[in-house]
Amino acid sequence: MPLDSFGRDIHYLRISLTDKCNMRCVYCMAEDMVFQPSAELMSTAEILRLVNLFAQLGIDKIRLTGGEPTVHPDLIPIVRGIRAAGISRVSLTTNGARLTQLAKPLKEAGLERVNVSVDTLDPDKFQRITRWGKLDEVMSGINAAEAHGLTPIKINAVVARGYNDEEVAGLAALTLTHPWQVRYIEMMPFGDVAKFAQDAVVSQAEIRQRIEHALGPLELIDDGRLDGEARLFRLKGALAPIGFISTITNPFCASCGRARLTADGKLRLCLLRDDEGDLLTPLRRGASDVELEASIRNLIWRKPWGHGLPEGVIPLQRVMSQIGG
Ligand code: 5AD
Ligand code: SF4
Repeated sequence: MPLDSFGRDIHYLRISLTDKCNMRCVYCMAEDMVFQPSAELMSTAEILRLVNLFAQLGIDKIRLTGGEPTVHPDLIPIVRGIRAAGISRVSLTTNGARLTQLAKPLKEAGLERVNVSVDTLDPDKFQRITRWGKLDEVMSGINAAEAHGLTPIKINAVVARGYNDEEVAGLAALTLTHPWQVRYIEMMPFGDVAKFAQDAVVSQAEIRQRIEHALGPLELIDDGRLDGEARLFRLKGALAPIGFISTITNPFCASCGRARLTADGKLRLCLLRDDEGDLLTPLRRGASDVELEASIRNLIWRKPWGHGLPEGVIPLQRVMSQIGG
């Protein structure tokens, strides 16, 4: 497994397949977002060449992200290619709108599970926050994912003041009726939506208070040990936990084993720092596997210790849709 200079074992790769999306969430991108020209993005063959190198280096878990990964025309062959590279833990973060059609072929291609973003269960508020999204499509997508065994399903919610802060408990209540883990993600500042995120962020403490006020006490699970990046709680009688991903107020950098490959072929070492290394340019110039592997090892070695939000360091080069969360 590749190690970084702090001894962290980097074994989990998140790959952004595209910066494009069929929604326009207010905390993620502007409505008139300009996407990168496709010639600048990795082709399917280029993605799979790099996946094979990462697999040889010891990466054993891959999550596909975007933008919205389900708008990529080769999503199914890419999942198949990752499995063929020997990586069995492959998952997807999606807005869910296309899962109704894709759940079955994704399962057949070897996808393990999905995380679906749902910020509110109120259809009008859902549309206001995603601009282009339709809640009923997404809920039908989640049901299809469950029916085809892309489980356990996790629901990700970002809470934005004035958009969905008043009905966070409605999402939490889903855990009383479905075995779906609901996770609240602290809104993070990026690029041109940085100011929005800073102004509209809602603290974990406030979200927790609202849930407990409506639904009763949340019990801490596992003494607060992190499950991936989430701290888990449970409502009495619930079928699934409720998680808080508090990147800002409760950073998990010490146990971070992630690296990110952007759709334009840069290896990004920290979600919240602009440090990146270009893999696509050398690949297109004919670099050998040995050369590319050496670049990957060197980049991973240089993974920064943690993010710099407390010191006011905000990543400005990309927005979330160009990194993939
Ligand atoms: N802060 C936190 N999470 C964000 N996401 C998108 N933009 C932001 C942001 N500024 C989330 C989406 C989705 C995942 C890919 O990233 O809601 O769950
Ligand atoms: Fe699309 Fe996800 Fe960004 Fe919303 S948060 S615009 S669904 S990439």
